[in-house]
Amino acid sequence: MYVTFDDTLVTGNEMIDSQHREWIDRINQLMKSCETEKEKQSAVRMLDYMADYADFHFAEEEKLQREIGYPGLEEHLKKHEEFRNTVKELHEMLEEEEGPSDGFVKAVEENVMKWLTYHIQSFDRSVAEYRYMRDNSEML
Ligand SMILES: [Fe+2]
Repeated sequence: MYVTFDDTLVTGNEMIDSQHREWIDRINQLMKSCETEKEKQSAVRMLDYMADYADFHFAEEEKLQREIGYPGLEEHLKKHEEFRNTVKELHEMLEEEEGPSDGFVKAVEENVMKWLTYHIQSFDRSVAEYRYMRDNSEML
């Protein structure tokens, strides 16, 4: 299973959208490594590669939310923290296994892919909408 960046994932904020594309690309690379190489060290490397970008992206998104005084910041921060915990759990799973198992792939599908799709469609979209409304009301 791979994630496709389609219209349902567009928030309308250019920075957020382009970062989501890169993040999704890295998630797909992780999945590809699990399917084709099935090798522990490369799965660990690809998980790190994906998680590094998630961290960078979260920092950028959180900065934007502070700049615009987004009222849902605290709740949003909790969601990002939840994802960081998921990454820790995925690392632990890989440590205990010989290589990326079906269980690991399922966990990525559930806790990374589905999580991110929902997160973008609800939490990130609401940030982009708030920003848009704020910018446009200032022009009136
Ligand atoms: Fe977010």
